[in-house]
Amino acid sequence: MSRLHRCLMLLTLALFSCQALAQEQANTLPDSLGKWYKPQNKRQVWLHTMFAMRRELQALQEYADEGDLSGVKKWSDKLLKHYRHIPEMVPEWQDELELETATDLEQAVANADLPRIKSLSRDLARSCKGCHRDFRVLAALRYRTAVFNDVMVSENGQQIKFLDFKHELIRTLNRINISAEDARWDNATTAVEQFESKLDAYGNSCASCHDDKEPRERILGAATAAGLEHLKQAIKRQDHKDTGRSLGETAVNVCARCHGVHRTLAEIRQQLFGAD
Ligand code: HEC
Ligand code: HEC
Ligand code: HEC
Repeated sequence: MSRLHRCLMLLTLALFSCQALAQEQANTLPDSLGKWYKPQNKRQVWLHTMFAMRRELQALQEYADEGDLSGVKKWSDKLLKHYRHIPEMVPEWQDELELETATDLEQAVANADLPRIKSLSRDLARSCKGCHRDFRVLAALRYRTAVFNDVMVSENGQQIKFLDFKHELIRTLNRINISAEDARWDNATTAVEQFESKLDAYGNSCASCHDDKEPRERILGAATAAGLEHLKQAIKRQDHKDTGRSLGETAVNVCARCHGVHRTLAEIRQQLFGAD
């Protein structure tokens, strides 16, 4: 192997391990972050700190543009207090912060140096973006995505795990389909009644997280009931084509819509962080 060859190989290896390291780092959130989210905390403290900082940064920049120094002072004090609190909340993220920029900004405000205030506030905003690029979406997925592990569905007095109930739903749905295909219309009628009762039980489980009726109504409400009625009529008429179309519509309205809201996120979260 020539020396050049060996050198290139080493370079490639180094590049790969850097990439792997970056990926590993990106997929890891410090445990201490969890302390600032429900259920470990009573409130979503982290997120509210963030919303506050965005407001404070905007106010600071708008007052700076107006040349209103007392406005600048008020809002930069608030912003810097929150900004400096971040490494106390999550010590592992100390390096993500530009604490020197914060000190410089404080100094510039004390000196009433508007051009410097403007440029330093932009520098600070860049440090927000840096941390967001690496961690923002991961934190939202980890701490704010609905997890269904402990949700139970109650059917005829029996408690079944939400995650197991899925399989019954899909089997019942397919049984309607198969029965219609094979013109076993009595079976189709029984299966559609089972399906309706299962959806009802399923819908009751939404209340384990949703206090309001609307989310359930959007997915399992009047439109879905009308669709199921249509399906029953099609089966009664032994209309193979309309049964198929009606089933497809129900699957989209009920299953695909809720999957768009809940399933994809729950599964990405699980893929990245495991089942807990
Ligand atoms: C050390 C990391 C870090 C730094 C620095 C940081 N953030 Fe964040 N920020 C986060 C994380 C993590 C989230 C995701 C929180 C969530 O969605 O639950 C977030 C979310 C946000 C959100 C909510 C975004 C949305 O629309 O959902 C805002 C607003 C925000 N940050 C503003 C700021 C501002 C302004 C700064 C700088 C002054 C800043 N952040 C600095 C980590 C950071
Ligand atoms: C494990 C908790 C949990 C369960 C169980 C749950 N959801 Fe949600 N759902 C959430 C969270 C969290 C959101 C995000 C916004 C919010 O809090 O409303 C959400 C949002 C939604 C939304 C979008 C917001 C809206 O109001 O339209 C719909 C639709 C929805 N859920 C439907 C359902 C249906 C239907 C069920 C029952 C079959 C259900 N959810 C069960 C936690 C849950
Ligand atoms: C709350 C709204 C919601 C509704 C309504 C819903 N699902 Fe799901 N479904 C989910 C969630 C969330 C997951 C992922 C669960 C997980 O793994 O964490 C899922 C996963 C699944 C899976 C994969 C199960 C597995 O682990 O292999 C199947 C199959 C499924 N759903 C079928 C259906 C069918 C069929 C319907 C319609 C009759 C339906 N679902 C309606 C939320 C819903």
